Amino acid sequence: MIIKEVEFVMSNSDVRKCPKPDRPEYAFIGRSNVGKSSLINMLMDKKSLAKTSSTPGKTQLINHFLVNKTWYLVDLPGYGYAKVPKAQKVKFERMISDYILLRENLVTVFILVDIRHSPQQIDLEFMEWLGLSSIPFTMVFTKLDKLKRGEIEPNLKKYRNKMLEKWDELPIQVITSAEKTDGREPLLEYIEKLNTDFATKFQK
Ligand code: GTP
Ligand code: MG
Repeated sequence: MIIKEVEFVMSNSDVRKCPKPDRPEYAFIGRSNVGKSSLINMLMDKKSLAKTSSTPGKTQLINHFLVNKTWYLVDLPGYGYAKVPKAQKVKFERMISDYILLRENLVTVFILVDIRHSPQQIDLEFMEWLGLSSIPFTMVFTKLDKLKRGEIEPNLKKYRNKMLEKWDELPIQVITSAEKTDGREPLLEYIEKLNTDFATKFQK
């Protein structure tokens, strides 16, 4: 897919005030600092479309972007950052779970995990919750450029084995680097295919 046009639509703390759900939508979620906003910028080939920061907790709202006038891309706040005050954490989590459960045009949730780290309980639990809630999700490993070549396969294997303790089947997984643009084409092609499926379903 060629990105011809991307425009910021709105920021929201309430799923009920998001744009009309009349187009396929994809949301990026994961722990604070995992690289959600950076991945969005990489996919859109725009350096500062979504705000990024080395300090966790940068994205605080549900941010909608309209791509090629045909689909929505959503940047969400991260979860699981220890230093966020409790009240704010609860507010973020509520905002995210309401958004995920109520957003009817959400095609898939891209859940991002840092490829360098061993499987984290919070991510495993989040995926389990998505599964139990019947929300389709796709895994995206981030920060590939930060690993040495020989470390990649063992890390992925460890992650997959951990997941297979709970899941019969692994979700689709894409490996990316926002820094080096790895995974850009596969992700955009995947979205394009899902957009076509969405259009077919919508016409019926
Ligand atoms: P919150 O909005 O705070 O939840 O964070 P986020 O998940 O949106 O992360 P963000 O994109 O702001 O990136 C966090 C930090 O990781 C920034 O310093 C980025 O430059 C860095 N980063 C993100 N992706 C990559 C990557 O693929 N490679 C490298 N080397 N650094 C990355
Ligand atoms: Mg962010």
